[in-house]
Amino acid sequence: MRARRAAPLKGTATIPGDKSISQRALILGALATGETRVSGLLESEDVKNTGQALTGFGAQVARTGPGTWRVRGTGVGNWHTLAAPLDFGNSGTGSRLVMGAMATTPITAVFTGDASLRSRPMARVVDPLKAFGVTYEGQGAKALMPLTLHGAANARAITTTITTASAQVKSALLLAALNAEGVSRITQTTLTRDHSEKMLKAFGAQIAVTPEGTGETIALTGRARLAGTEVEVPRDPSSAAFPLVAALIVPGSQIVLPAILLNPRRTGLLDTLLEMGAKIGIENRRTSGGEEIGDLVVSHSELRGVTVPAARAPSMIDEYPVLSVAAAFAKGKTTMLGLEELRVKESDRLAAVARGLEVNGVSIAIEGDDLMVEGMGPDGVPGGGTVTTHMDHRIAMSFLTMGMASQKPVTADDITMIATSFPEYQGLMTALGAAFEA
Ligand code: S3P
Repeated sequence: MRARRAAPLKGTATIPGDKSISQRALILGALATGETRVSGLLESEDVKNTGQALTGFGAQVARTGPGTWRVRGTGVGNWHTLAAPLDFGNSGTGSRLVMGAMATTPITAVFTGDASLRSRPMARVVDPLKAFGVTYEGQGAKALMPLTLHGAANARAITTTITTASAQVKSALLLAALNAEGVSRITQTTLTRDHSEKMLKAFGAQIAVTPEGTGETIALTGRARLAGTEVEVPRDPSSAAFPLVAALIVPGSQIVLPAILLNPRRTGLLDTLLEMGAKIGIENRRTSGGEEIGDLVVSHSELRGVTVPAARAPSMIDEYPVLSVAAAFAKGKTTMLGLEELRVKESDRLAAVARGLEVNGVSIAIEGDDLMVEGMGPDGVPGGGTVTTHMDHRIAMSFLTMGMASQKPVTADDITMIATSFPEYQGLMTALGAAFEA
């Protein structure tokens, strides 16, 4: 699909539910006793694959209306062994969190996925889980899928420190700790998204978080009983990022994105764009489902290059591809520091972004884990390239965004993966005024 220069983007767009929170709502619902009712669930491929897997473990997962789902859980420790391998498609979050959730129940499951997921390291999750007594057979040193995981019987609580800046790793350990005897203490040396902690509390887990150096320690009491509850899923800031950046770079645009999740561990892109001079108003700040939300009012802006500190990376880890596109339309250089985690996403996003910018005439440099983008100004991005998306939804959407304001159209070689996180993307952007060609 190809995106070409758009007329000004105008209107109000309803962004779908947050992917991280949707995944967690289904998983915690399946671990709880009783009924969990979820509203605003993201109905994307990744989330559906998780729902399917949870059904295999013995939970009941049913759609009751648009975005509303009901989960009847089994209770912690009561999942059963599955007959067939679990295919998680493209979803790192779904597969890794479910690995944690089954790790302290003595059952076996085979995890697999598409070519992208089968190339992503699972060792970062299953190696720390060994402390609970799990064993596994994966492919090679990175424990690639297909991976067979044997949950531990009679697991005991652990005390551990994670230095990987990954919420998935942290969440997998927390979910495993739910069925381990005693209080597990999980320290993470950086602050990553805290949706698991918040939601565990809402489901009745005993959980306490205390600051610890640059990070924090989470104490979670095991042999937990979770009680089904209501979960209202806020709208995904990582999906909102695409129309947001599009409105900033397409001249004459003004759009409204209501009720977007503004959890401070997810707002690094907003902070960065504001520093770049973006006109983004945040209105009606309120809470919904225990999370901060607000309405974003976005107008076309003259952007300038900035330096993004490495410490901000966890709060905008999924937004670097689209930030790189915004940076191409800025005046001056943008430097993004400390991007090592980008190499292990749905694709090697550092390489995919760099290549995508280059084929569209934007100069870049990579030094170690840092990316530098030479801004070409609001009207200076040539475009005209075909971007290899490497089965990565965010690479596809980022470069389609570029095509909306570049001199020549930009082509994404494959858009099928957009359905993993944002099935409404094309319709929503078209309604705002974007122009796509097949
Ligand atoms: C997620 C955490 C991040 C993010 C992913 C969703 C989560 O991954 O990139 O899209 O829901 O916990 P890492 O934990 O690997 O950084």
